[in-house]
Amino acid sequence: MPDKPILAIDTSCDDTSAAVVAGTKVLSNVIASQTQLHKQYGGVFPTVAKQAHLENINPTIAAALKKARLNPEDLAAVAVTVGPGLAPALEIGINSAAQFAEENSLPLIAVNHIEAHALSVLAERKTADSEPTINFPVLAIIVSGGHTEFVQIKDIGDYKILGSTLDDAAGECLDKIGRMLNLGYPAGATIEKFAKLGDPKAFDFPLPLTQIKDYNLSFSGLKTYARNKLEEITGQKPLTKQETYDFCASAQNAVFRHITYKLNKILENEQFGEVWLGGGVAANSQLRKMIRTELKAFEKSQHKKGRNEVKNIRFRIPYDHRLCMDNAAMIGVVAGFKYKRGQLVQNGETLDRQPRWKIDN
Ligand code: KG4
Ligand code: ZN
Repeated sequence: MPDKPILAIDTSCDDTSAAVVAGTKVLSNVIASQTQLHKQYGGVFPTVAKQAHLENINPTIAAALKKARLNPEDLAAVAVTVGPGLAPALEIGINSAAQFAEENSLPLIAVNHIEAHALSVLAERKTADSEPTINFPVLAIIVSGGHTEFVQIKDIGDYKILGSTLDDAAGECLDKIGRMLNLGYPAGATIEKFAKLGDPKAFDFPLPLTQIKDYNLSFSGLKTYARNKLEEITGQKPLTKQETYDFCASAQNAVFRHITYKLNKILENEQFGEVWLGGGVAANSQLRKMIRTELKAFEKSQHKKGRNEVKNIRFRIPYDHRLCMDNAAMIGVVAGFKYKRGQLVQNGETLDRQPRWKIDN
């Protein structure tokens, strides 16, 4: 029997999103971006985000249903992000979901935003005809503007955080370096564009935490190196265009090398059938390439050691860039699994914000 569609809502940060998802099939995924609003502040202002969510949420839900060509009575449930995220922003999504559920006598599903980034790779186009088969255990790498985590997935719903950032998230680090270079906010995509024109070896960024054996990450040293280096150069003369490109290429390479270095340590100590990449920074083609290269090099090194049981590790990324950034389709994918497990909330009043909800809690 085909999966019944679920309406999903995400207002965890600065984008208002609503989607309709049936199982893992995305029927619609509407995102009302607030980027232009927050650009002037160089970051997300929670009260501004809340006001924009309030204005955008109903039209966004209506657009998601219209695009999916469905009415409320066609739905099985309403899913909503309850955390982690900005409390005032989460509140708007939760209230709207609860109201929609009550008006249409539907159950609710509470979704963790990080679980959704991790499972975003399972989202499929509506025309897909196969259910994804997964070779567990999986290693999910979540890299966004707010989070950077390595998560072991033994099964859908069974998570263990292997390592996470001790300070800034990877996207946050790129955004801060971009700000030093006056590249606007957020800067990740611009840095990727400029990096293609530059030399990743031009600036000698350090490789963080190589002396520490755990799988945690730290990006603050890269940020400090960037600030000091730029002060040193611009104290003499402004950066040339080529120097800006070189700086972007070197900074991006340093951020991603730190991730792949720790990825290698994890692979050496734990076994995985698949590696998944999700979050806003997962849109970056250089990061994808570096992870692919790391996986191939790891398999080769294991075969050399006679460990032939290490097979091709499947690498999955979301099928569309819109599934990398904050979006509600990924919330709907998680909700589809929770619906099948009967993890439903009948009373919207019991649904609460969990701004610091960890994926393994
Ligand atoms: O997942 P996301 O939309 O929001 C959070 O949950 O944080 O991620 C936003 C982050 C920003 O830091 C942005 O600079 C970064 O993702 N980003 C990129 C690229 N596109 C967005 N970073 C590197 N390369 C990109 N192409
Ligand atoms: Zn996110």
